[in-house]
Amino acid sequence: MKNTKLVVSTKKIEEYSGDLLVILVALDEKGNFIGDDRFRPILESLAEYKEFTGKKEEQLQLYPPFGPMAEKFQCRRLLLVGLGCVSSITDNNVKNEVMRTAGGGIASQCKNCKVASVGICMPAYDGLPDTVIGEFLSEGVLLGDYQFLKYKTENTQENPYQGLTKVELLVTTRLQAIRRSAVKAGNSANSVITARDMANEPGNGWTASHFAKHAMELAKNLQLRCTILERKDMVDLGMGGIVAVNQGSEEPPKIIILEYVPERQGETILLVGKGLTFDSGGISLKPAQGMMDMKYDMCGGAAVLSAMETVGREKPGVRVVAIIPATDNMSGGGALKPGDIITHYGGITAEIESTDAEGRLILADALAYGIEKFRPDCVIDLATLTGSVIFALGHHYSGLFSNNQQLAKELIAVGKACGEPLWRLPLGEMYVKQIKSQIADIKNTGGKPAGCITAAEYLHKFVGKTPWAHLDIAGTAWDFTEKTYIPKGPSGFGVRILIEFLRRWENGKLKDEGC
Ligand code: BES
Ligand code: MN
Ligand code: ZN
Repeated sequence: MKNTKLVVSTKKIEEYSGDLLVILVALDEKGNFIGDDRFRPILESLAEYKEFTGKKEEQLQLYPPFGPMAEKFQCRRLLLVGLGCVSSITDNNVKNEVMRTAGGGIASQCKNCKVASVGICMPAYDGLPDTVIGEFLSEGVLLGDYQFLKYKTENTQENPYQGLTKVELLVTTRLQAIRRSAVKAGNSANSVITARDMANEPGNGWTASHFAKHAMELAKNLQLRCTILERKDMVDLGMGGIVAVNQGSEEPPKIIILEYVPERQGETILLVGKGLTFDSGGISLKPAQGMMDMKYDMCGGAAVLSAMETVGREKPGVRVVAIIPATDNMSGGGALKPGDIITHYGGITAEIESTDAEGRLILADALAYGIEKFRPDCVIDLATLTGSVIFALGHHYSGLFSNNQQLAKELIAVGKACGEPLWRLPLGEMYVKQIKSQIADIKNTGGKPAGCITAAEYLHKFVGKTPWAHLDIAGTAWDFTEKTYIPKGPSGFGVRILIEFLRRWENGKLKDEGC
């Protein structure tokens, strides 16, 4: 659950008297148990009967008396979790993922047994620092523990499981360093949980106004600067894209701007997220089947806003500005029509071929405005922008589009480290041609071929030379690759990429690099 207590202690395993104590078991190349010798007797007795081999994702739960170690434990249950042969893994990203996966597995076992508080013995292995284990294991536990129960009033079970309230890492060394890792894990997991909560809210439970209210509260709690642009401001500023998309709706649009300013003024990173709270398609109405999923069309905005929660807590040495253009896309009497022409912020005109290609319309205004106003050194936008990216990459990678080699490389590396993989797709003049209009500057669709690229090229028009990356998360924001720490429903994809990107940011990194 949100804000699960994550504590790191030097409590002895014999003293842990909670409901569940977890022991992680790794193997060497020959299949022998390695790591914590304290558990050797129990492991060897199980190995004799081939009941637990320690291979990846294997779990075995034991009740007292614990075989040859009957006297050793006070806990109610022991859970053995296999990690497989960690020493043969050379890629650090893979190690992170093994730990997250183990963490997610622990959370699901806690749910099975309705355990609210869990203790985990922290192992140490050659080449796998305990800080890394601490960070990603904790992250996996917290992410795997996620549930959305807000609208469940009737419970068939007598005692519904409410999730973990406390996770305790039992360590023998480096207490302070592992504590710092746990804080990082707690921050990023809480941000992801916030993003999933927003996304799980239905279209009538999460409107543009909800986005604005949430941002204002965040600003108050974490000393961020929050500005909300109302419809009238948008009209005055000439933001013809978002105003047009909102025309068929009864819900007022909002542009949420959240700004974190570090003590020492340095560079600026702009984050933009598509906050489309329900996408009916507008007059170019979507088919009924699956339309319900379009409540998730705000996942880019949710990722950006939730990442700001961690920004406010960790206070990086770079200015971070988040902009979320938020509205729904409806087909009321005043709705935008195919054939209409709109004028974006900054003056570029666009012919509307489909009112269902609305994401790019609201993002174009936000990008152009944000770049002009905040002069960022780099811009990252996240959007559930096209069905086309799902045809291209399925539910396993998000599409990455960028005008900057360095930025693309860095994001791909960060994505790997987070278990949120990105695959770069090309941009180019050939694709720009597809969105040429007969009578306006551009049109808002480029036909079937390479739909995710022509959508990215639409956005490209509005970023100029500013280093920019666009993440099309339509395939990953929900229905993301099945993993122990990714529940069904919204994944929170992108939140951890943004957080890790900001943690790694160093001044001047992206200067003077073309595409
Ligand atoms: N929000 C959708 C994209 C989407 C589709 C996300 C399916 C996740 C799952 C977007 O607004 C949209 O409708 N895009 C159209 C664009 C087309 C009309 C050019 C699409 O991809 O079909
Ligand atoms: Mn659409
Ligand atoms: Zn959409």
